[in-house]
Amino acid sequence: ARVDKGGHKHFMSKEIAEQPRVIGEAVRHYLSDDGNAVALPGDLDFTQIDRMTMVACGTAYYACLTAKYWFEQLAQMPVEVDIASEFRYREPPIPARTVALFVSQSGETADTLAALRYCDGKADKILSVVNVPESSIARESDLALPILAGAEIGVASTKAFTCQLTVLLMMALKAAEQRGTLTPERLSDLLSALRALPNTLNTALEQDGNIANAARKLSEASDVLFLGRGLMYPLALEGALKLKEISYIHAEAYASGELKHGPIALIDKHLPVVVMAPRDGLFDKTVSNMQEVLARGGKVMLVTDAEGTVEAAGDAWQTITLPAIDPVLSPILYAVPAQLLAYHTAVAKGTDVDQPRNLAKSVTVE
Ligand code: G6P
Repeated sequence: ARVDKGGHKHFMSKEIAEQPRVIGEAVRHYLSDDGNAVALPGDLDFTQIDRMTMVACGTAYYACLTAKYWFEQLAQMPVEVDIASEFRYREPPIPARTVALFVSQSGETADTLAALRYCDGKADKILSVVNVPESSIARESDLALPILAGAEIGVASTKAFTCQLTVLLMMALKAAEQRGTLTPERLSDLLSALRALPNTLNTALEQDGNIANAARKLSEASDVLFLGRGLMYPLALEGALKLKEISYIHAEAYASGELKHGPIALIDKHLPVVVMAPRDGLFDKTVSNMQEVLARGGKVMLVTDAEGTVEAAGDAWQTITLPAIDPVLSPILYAVPAQLLAYHTAVAKGTDVDQPRNLAKSVTVE
């Protein structure tokens, strides 16, 4: 079927707006009928696995980096993450009781497919998380979990990223349940937060106008720094990637704790710094990093939830306020303002949002 823009100016904005619906569908798909447990296809037993190796490219790689935090913190399972083009030529040893997991929207990325073939016969199991169930990566996996995002046309990935995150989080919750690393109460709280995600994301989308205003200012910058800690570090990387891809503004991301080890030298009044600061266990540390930026005349764009805003936003240049959410799910929520910021910045600059120069939706050659 032909996919149209559904009244939006670009596929990218349509795909951003679709997220509450497609994520709601993915959550329902991977919940048991009564909604009280994660139900994955196949006979995955995470008690028989000692470690996971996750491999991907681009945005899917950042989904893997996020999933590493989830699998390690929630299921106490060691995870390695690698970029497919590095992994395949480094030819790393694959120890026993290792599962290899490949994440790919298209399921056809040449480097990711080659990395999968390298693991064939070495890993205990080959899993994939894909948007295209008939793709090469899905077909060559022992088990392929669809993300159910629907066709994604915009070259810059949006809804596929958040659907990848949703499926990866649900896998980590299944692993936590099987390995007994979370209390039943905690597990049930997280499942409720997942069921509530579509509503939470709709509230975040209401920030569209506010973000568009912030983006008009951002569009005048020649460099932008993204900062985040913990689960917000991979999200900062994804925010910087989105901005580069479609607005052509140079952007990079750092783990907030690394600020003093280099990027702080760049801070001046010309450098906008986007700080992702959900009210999680690292909030105070993130705020103190933000103060270091402000003290050097840096311009802070603070993305936070309502409660955190009050005392922290004081001196920020721009503030984007999101609904409160269980910190475990924050990457899925904070992806929305990261996408909208890139989108509106690109629109303000007049670039080709859906077909950015030099980029391809799916890189099927090396
Ligand atoms: C290209 C696209 C990116 C995507 C990456 C991996 O670079 O422009 O948006 O994240 O490939 O694609 P995949 O289909 O494997 O997720």
